[in-house]
This record gives sequence, structure tokens and C-alpha cells, in this order.
Amino acid sequence: MMQNRAKTVLEVEGLRTSFFTRKGEVKAVDGISFYVREGETLGLVGESGCGKTVTGLSLLRLLPEPAGRILDGKILLDGIDLLALSKKEMRAVRGKVISMILQDPMTSLNPVYTVGEQIAEPVRQQQGLRGEKAREAVIAALRLLHIPSPEVRLRDYPFQLSGGMRQRVVGAIAMSCNPRLLIADEPTTALDATIQAQYLALFKEVQRKTNVAIIFITHDFGVVARMCHRVAVMYAGKIVETAPTEVIFRQPWHPYTAALINSVPRLDRKVERLYSIKGQPPSLINLPPGCRFCPRCPKAREICREREPEARQVGSEHFVFCWQVS
Ligand SMILES: Nc1ncnc2c1ncn2[C@@H]1O[C@H](COP(=O)(O)OP(=O)(O)OP(=O)(O)O)[C@@H](O)[C@H]1O
Ligand code: SF4
Ligand SMILES: [Mg+2]
Repeated sequence: MMQNRAKTVLEVEGLRTSFFTRKGEVKAVDGISFYVREGETLGLVGESGCGKTVTGLSLLRLLPEPAGRILDGKILLDGIDLLALSKKEMRAVRGKVISMILQDPMTSLNPVYTVGEQIAEPVRQQQGLRGEKAREAVIAALRLLHIPSPEVRLRDYPFQLSGGMRQRVVGAIAMSCNPRLLIADEPTTALDATIQAQYLALFKEVQRKTNVAIIFITHDFGVVARMCHRVAVMYAGKIVETAPTEVIFRQPWHPYTAALINSVPRLDRKVERLYSIKGQPPSLINLPPGCRFCPRCPKAREICREREPEARQVGSEHFVFCWQVS
């Protein structure tokens, strides 16, 4: 496959992030490893609360302090260990090298500044552009996201734009400094089906033009089918299976992956939530030993309750953590 020869942009090894709360340590991300290449989109999929957003925020070192802490692991971006950078160095990485489209679109735009001012801010801060050069960069970012009449639109305030256009502006801000890695956290959840499809197509085009590596966070395997080259399925703070998208649809190994795929009624239809898996994910405080999916798993055996499954390779770039595979 073409992507296999592409350069690795991001490599994460054994990342662990916890929140220290009055009730105890919430192990939100508990030792995950993955990578993303240039021009590749990795889908990060799983039910609510499995650690998708915390993973994204960890990569940017933007966890709510002092409760949230990265305890262990490596985050290598183009070979540079982000966890070894000073706070100041990390600020230079955010927005410029890695940018993130946040899950809540309402928090992404400031109602009191124009679209142009909001895109110009990272352009000025991160790229040091001023005056006409900054204006050109803002217009280029609006064009990249297919915002019509950018010279006019940049004087608009967010409330003057439709939901779909606003989300494009959020995309333009994220892409304004030509990042190496874009983390898109459920960017289409608030959009209706047609606008969502347009937005997804637009992001594919942006990726073709810029070769940006993308982590696409979603709970929707339908979106994965459209957008992602590879997938990492998360359950209760762990990655349980990772594979190229077409492989995982054809042959999911992990019972949780299979259940998620089966819970999508049709790939071209949007699902709000995944209902068909009985039971709840475990509390991330005081996790029991063994496999975390055990209480919900139709294939659970004795060993599943006792020992955590280890990674097994079942195909090219296809890894699964499940005792069924040994
Ligand atoms: N500030 C915080 N303090 C304590 N626990 C937190 C905090 N933020 C997140 N968590 C916990 O970390 C776990 C992972 O949360 P995360 O937001 O990453 O889930 P998610 O997979 O993005 O879910 P969703 O699909 O609902 O967005 C959850 O159990 C959540 O309760
Ligand atoms: S390890 Fe056991 S309990 Fe866990 S998913 Fe596999 S079969 Fe099910
Ligand atoms: Mg989230």
C-alpha cells in the first residue's frame, strides 16, 4: 500500500494519562501505543468515556491541571519527544505542528471576534506573519476549506455563518499554519447528514493537498469507513484492536470491535450512539484484573478474568488484544 512507504509523523508508545480526583485515580488512558503517517488518517473509535478526547489532549499536553497528568509513555512527533519539551517549546508546537479541532464547536470560535481575526491569530503568533502577508495566509486558509468569497467572509462574525460554514472556519483555523498533525475530535457530530458528508469530503481534499496526518476521533464506524485509512478501537482506556479500515470491516477479531461494527445499521447512515452492546464500560477507577471487556463479552473464558490480554499480530498492521487469539 502506498501509505506504508510514507514517513511516520506521530509515534505514541505506552501513553498513560490519569485524573487524580477525590474518588481516586481515573485511568483515562492506560498504556496505549499507535502511529500515524504522512497523508494518513487514523480513526480513534470507541464508546463514550473510553479515552478518545483525553488521548488527543495528551498529545497537545493540554490536560486540565492539576487533576490531569501524563504518567508515562513517549509521544514522538517527527522524532521529537514532546514530553521532553518545556512549556514554552510546547506552545510553539500547538497550532503550528499539531492542531486540534475540539469536540464542542461552540467553544472553538469566539463570538466577539471576526472570522478573519480568529484565523489571523495563530498565523501571527505561530508564523510571525504581519499585515498583507497575514491577510494572504488567512484568505488561503479560507480557500483551502472552500469558504466562498473569503475576502468578504473574513469580516463576518461567527453568528453570521451557518453551522456548516462555522465548522469550516474552525477547520481553517486548524489548518492555517500547515500543521503536520491534525486531531479532529468528532468534528461532524453537530452537523446534519448532507453537511457532514460535505465536510468529510472536504477534509479528504485538504489532506490530499497538504499531506497532513489526521487522527479522526469518532464513535461512528460509518464515518470511519468514509474517512480513515486505519483504525484504532479503544475500550476503557486501552486500544483493543488496530488494523487497516478495510481489514477491520472484513475481519474484526475483537468481540468489541465486531459489536461496534454490527451496531452500525448502515454505513451510509449516521448513528447517534451505539446501543446494541449490553452493559456498561467499567469504571476507570479500581479496574479489575483481566480483560476489561470481560463482563460484556459473549466469548469470555476463565483466563479472561485473570490476565490482561497481550498484543497479538493477526495480519499486516493488524493487532488485537484478546485471549481468543493465541
Ligand atoms: N477533567 C476530568 N476529571 C476527571 N475525569 C475526567 C476528566 N476528563 C475526562 N475524564 C474521564 O476520563 C475518561 C475518558 O474521557 P474522554 O473525554 O477521553 O472520553 P471520550 O472517549 O472522548 O468520550 P466521548 O465520546 O463522550 O467524547 C472518562 O472516564 C472521563 O470521565
Ligand atoms: S480477552 Fe476474553 S473477555 Fe476479553 S474480549 Fe477476548 S474473549 Fe472477550
Ligand atoms: Mg470525547
